[in-house]
Amino acid sequence: MAIVQLDNICKRYGGSGPVAVDNVDITIGDGEFMVLLGPSGCGKSTTLRMIAGLEDISSGTLSIDGRVVNNVPAKDRDIAMVFQSYALYPHMTVAENLAFGLKRRRVPAAEITRRVADAAQILGLSPLLERKPHALSGGQRQRVALGRAMVREPIVFLFDEPLSNLDAALRVNTRNELIRQHHRLASTMIYVTHDQVEAMTMGTRICVMNGGKVAQIGAPLDVYWHPADTFVARFLGAPPMNLFTLPVATDGERIGGETVSGPLSRWSEAARAPHMGREAIFGVRAEDLHLDAAAAGAGGGSIRGRVFAVEPLGAETLLAVETEGGVECTARLPRDVTARPGELVELHFPASAGYLFDKATGKAIPAQISAVDAVPRHAIGTAQ
Ligand SMILES: Nc1ncnc2c1ncn2[C@@H]1O[C@H](COP(=O)(O)OP(=O)(O)OP(=O)(O)O)[C@@H](O)[C@H]1O
Ligand SMILES: [Mg+2]
Repeated sequence: MAIVQLDNICKRYGGSGPVAVDNVDITIGDGEFMVLLGPSGCGKSTTLRMIAGLEDISSGTLSIDGRVVNNVPAKDRDIAMVFQSYALYPHMTVAENLAFGLKRRRVPAAEITRRVADAAQILGLSPLLERKPHALSGGQRQRVALGRAMVREPIVFLFDEPLSNLDAALRVNTRNELIRQHHRLASTMIYVTHDQVEAMTMGTRICVMNGGKVAQIGAPLDVYWHPADTFVARFLGAPPMNLFTLPVATDGERIGGETVSGPLSRWSEAARAPHMGREAIFGVRAEDLHLDAAAAGAGGGSIRGRVFAVEPLGAETLLAVETEGGVECTARLPRDVTARPGELVELHFPASAGYLFDKATGKAIPAQISAVDAVPRHAIGTAQ
């Protein structure tokens, strides 16, 4: 059982420096896998290090299972942390590295042997137990670092970009391994990354951070379908959501004009009213754009522009287009696209695909019928 609660947590380095973490409020449920996601410098590691007890909390309350732990030393918090740069003891074997923390905590020898053997087996380290770190690959070393946290059987695991030193294939394997371990251990895990694929696939919930603040917390697909603002809309999704600042028609039926135009039929009269005859930000995801008007269905919108880059990725092709107004946007298209740089194209999107944001605040203007509900069921796909 471990509920980790952050109440109005702030961090100023050096006491009076700029705010690195700004009024963060998050409650991480027992057994939850919470991902802290955000760009470099947004305060992810600082937040994690305050939870671990490696960094003082400037203000606010941190509690674990209802007990305030602001002043509890790191070693007494029953938390294990795995870092991006994992320091293994070079003169010790894998087995000794795994056992070290337990010996220091005076865990009985038989128990140490059992835990080390279990962790080694789960992480595929059994054949390597007698090797020294210099004779291991980067991925194997990373697994030893994970194993060291696992053998402690802590109530909370903290991970700070633990996979970023691994090559692409090993990253995927280790990611899946971590997901499996989370199911098996059912421990509370808090995982920092700036990799949105990791966030989407691993998190029970993700907390998107921006400039030390929480931008949005929610289940991965909820955040993807309902981004709270333009920052989240651009951060979650690859390529990022295409955004256009456009005039809303005076009757509120449509947004945009000649080159970019979209219907606002999913928004209520009340939601549209404050923006009629004024500018708002309109968003469309790259995967909702089609060269074929029929694929977008009736009543949708379109973007006209000139292709300036074609990126064939094998399974799909990204088309980078610049509109007449000089706004760049990206379409994620089937692999057989034949468009060439310099060509004029018209991209079409369904009526269900648009997002609307307030121009002044960047906050999402929620639609009456959300994008996810507007998409036909079979298009979302439910596991059979
Ligand atoms: N020891 C420190 N002293 C002063 N400022 C610091 C210190 N550590 C971090 N910062 C500042 O605090 C802010 C948040 O840093 P933090 O390391 O938490 O970011 P992050 O989200 O983990 O970024 P990254 O993805 O690059 O690891 C940054 O502006 C950073 O420069
Ligand atoms: Mg960091």
